[in-house]
Amino acid sequence: MTFHRALTLRHSATAATPVLVGEAALAAAEPELLRWLAGRAVFVVGSAPVLALHGARLDGLRAAAARWEVLEVADGEAAKSVRSAEALWNRMLAAGGKRDSRVIAFGGGSVGDLAGFAAGCFLRGLDFVQIPTTLLAQVDAAIGGKTGVDLPGGKNTVGLFHHPAMVVCDTSLLPTLPRGELRSGLVEVIKMAALLDLGLLAETETALDALLAGEAAALGPVVAGAAAAKIAVVERDPTEQGDRRLLNFGHTLGHAIETALAYGGLRHGEAVAYGILFALRLAERRGLDAGFAGRLRTLLARLDLPPLPPLDPAALVDHMARDKKARESGLVWVLPAAPGEGRMVSGIPWEEILEEIGGFLRDPFAAMCPDRV
Ligand SMILES: NC(=O)c1ccc[n+]([C@@H]2O[C@H](COP(=O)([O-])OP(=O)(O)OC[C@H]3O[C@@H](n4cnc5c(N)ncnc54)[C@H](O)[C@@H]3O)[C@@H](O)[C@H]2O)c1
Ligand SMILES: [Zn+2]
Repeated sequence: MTFHRALTLRHSATAATPVLVGEAALAAAEPELLRWLAGRAVFVVGSAPVLALHGARLDGLRAAAARWEVLEVADGEAAKSVRSAEALWNRMLAAGGKRDSRVIAFGGGSVGDLAGFAAGCFLRGLDFVQIPTTLLAQVDAAIGGKTGVDLPGGKNTVGLFHHPAMVVCDTSLLPTLPRGELRSGLVEVIKMAALLDLGLLAETETALDALLAGEAAALGPVVAGAAAAKIAVVERDPTEQGDRRLLNFGHTLGHAIETALAYGGLRHGEAVAYGILFALRLAERRGLDAGFAGRLRTLLARLDLPPLPPLDPAALVDHMARDKKARESGLVWVLPAAPGEGRMVSGIPWEEILEEIGGFLRDPFAAMCPDRV
């Protein structure tokens, strides 16, 4: 039997986004998608590799559209530029795009962020649908309405909240992902499970090897669990003033590592895994149960992460101080307080961070610096 689950994200008193998850989610969504795009100009945004692998999965939708344009964009993070967005706007305009045209984002988080942003701005807002094709996008990026592109000086620096009309997480698209992409997505699952859903954490621990191997039967329930966790936190805090910030667990140092490596050395989720390992050191110093910290370390070790390239502690601190999420009053850290529970901690002195980073870079999987206990 194929796994299928229908979730809903309510983002205002009157508006909601259905989120369908499972091995046959696209087929289940097809009747609703056909109604949504019937008689309209439809713009499908995707990159060449994903369109070549899975583009045919959209064939059933094509005949109902008044016009069907596939807009190919660069693969990966390179798609997320103002220039790519401008190219999409020009092509949509030239192809007769109207206020009632539809946009389909078909790809990973990069394509979803770009297409959502382009749709949100074009003619002051076109409806769009997310059909995420990576694990990371199915559990995180495609859900919650954040869209945007990068500037040369910073990632995700230009964007808007624009919720999709529907999110279709078809897990049968995932087995073609390279192991590194599955691992990267699994880190976001672990991030949410550790702070929001201990049942999901246990499920991930049990199924980890099958998940890393891209087995569709294992992926369905875990994607649904993580999507549900993300939906719950976004509903509680749609604009990231409070609880939604918990999703940044591991991202403070993770982003600094990505910046220091010029986005080249590690995948996003891999950098976040190291960020989680570092946050655990700070959390243990603030009383987190060593057993829970050890449990998360063991799980992350099973991912077989690529080694951390050599990094300069002072440069990492400098990147963190410039992070767009830093407030004037300093950085806000997301730390586990107890199993299944996170909290925001501000005011951690830079001297402590610098010292702890030194120990962390020597041995990322070790617990906090012992001399500081
Ligand atoms: N909007 C949000 O809330 C949010 C949240 C988290 C991350 N993000 C963003 O998401 C982006 C990262 O997304 P990502 O991890 O999905 O990476 P990605 O979109 O860059 O895709 C990674 C690679 O996977 C390949 N790929 C995609 N689907 C495939 C498939 N089914 N089979 C084989 N290969 C496939 C692509 O060709 C690409 O090379 C970042 O830009 C990040 O900022 C956004
Ligand atoms: Zn992330």
